[in-house]
Formats: sequence, structure tokens, C-alpha cells
Amino acid sequence: MSGSISAASNYRARPSANPRPGPGIGHWRLTSKLELGPLPSAVPCARLHAKHIFWEWDLAHVTNDAELIVSELMTNALKAARPLPDIHPITLYLQASDEHLMIQVWDALSAAPAPRPHAIDAETGRGLEIVSLLSDRWGFYHPVGGGKVVWAALVTGTAPRALPDAGA
Ligand SMILES: Nc1ncnc2c1ncn2[C@@H]1O[C@H](COP(=O)(O)OP(=O)(O)O)[C@@H](O)[C@H]1O
Ligand SMILES: [Mg+2]
Repeated sequence: MSGSISAASNYRARPSANPRPGPGIGHWRLTSKLELGPLPSAVPCARLHAKHIFWEWDLAHVTNDAELIVSELMTNALKAARPLPDIHPITLYLQASDEHLMIQVWDALSAAPAPRPHAIDAETGRGLEIVSLLSDRWGFYHPVGGGKVVWAALVTGTAPRALPDAGA
């Protein structure tokens, strides 16, 4: 990962051309799913969960960047989900292939993320820029069940640790 966030104030965090993470990236050998209520605690809970998963999967070398991405995507999902009249959980999916880590966050609002330019000293509007800078690809899609998923993929360069079979 290269690039300085502070030096990128005019950067427009455009999603990658491929709107779906899908088959281009590989076979997901390990997956994790966490549903959380749309409460402020969802963000630190998701981050801590992700940290432990990355450790279990032997992907500690991407933890700093990946945790930050989880945090930004969860924060955005929370902001999107909270005003909705019905209460829907926010869902964090983590997936690892032999070379990539995929982070996906589902929320119930179908409106798409809208990266926007911001002033260099602005306190908001940097979340998607951070996601864009720390990931290799990111984007969003609308799953058939409704809402939308915002995702970011990182190249890990290593296969995740295979977990031993239960009872082995
Ligand atoms: N999950 C989401 N659902 C709906 N809109 C989103 C979502 N994520 C981001 N956005 C939109 O994209 C904008 C930019 O997001 P971001 O770069 O994280 O900045 P900030 O969250 O500080 O506004 C948000 O203000 C919001 O309008
Ligand atoms: Mg944000």
C-alpha cells in the first residue's frame, strides 16, 4: 500500500471499474459473517471481531489497513441504517482466498455510497477515500434481497491459515 492520505485531498474515491467482487478474485477458502444491530457499538465490535479473524487466518500483516477499512465501511453503514423506519442489522462479511482478503458490509439502505471531494481540512468525507487508498479495489452492488453491499479487496499475497477440522 502506498500513498499518503493527507496529500490526497483532491483525490476522488471512485469505485473500481468492476462493480462486483466476484469470480475475478478467486475462491474464498475462509469466510466469516457477523450481524450487528445498528448501534454505535457495532463499529468497535466489528473492528475487534475482524482483528481476531485476521489473526486466526494468519493475515496479521494486513490488519492495520483492513481494520481501518472495516471501521470506515461499518461507520457508513451505521449512518445509512440508523434513520430507516425499520431496524435492520448491519452485516460484516470477511472472506479470504489464496491471495486476497475481501471485506463486505451490507446495510438495508439501497442508496449507493457517494464519494465526494472535500476541503483539505474537512473532518468528514474522507471515509471512502481512505477505503480507496488502503484497498486494491472497492465498489458496491445491490444484492437480490435488497439493501446494498459496499466492499473492498486487499491483496494479501499469502494463503490464509487453514483451520483444523473440528474434533481433530
Ligand atoms: N453505506 C452507505 N450507504 C449510503 N450512503 C453512503 C454509504 N457510505 C457512504 N455513503 C455516502 O457517501 C458519502 C461519503 O462517504 P465518506 O467518504 O465515508 O464520508 P462521510 O462518511 O464522512 O460523509 C457519505 O456522506 C454518504 O452520503
Ligand atoms: Mg464515512
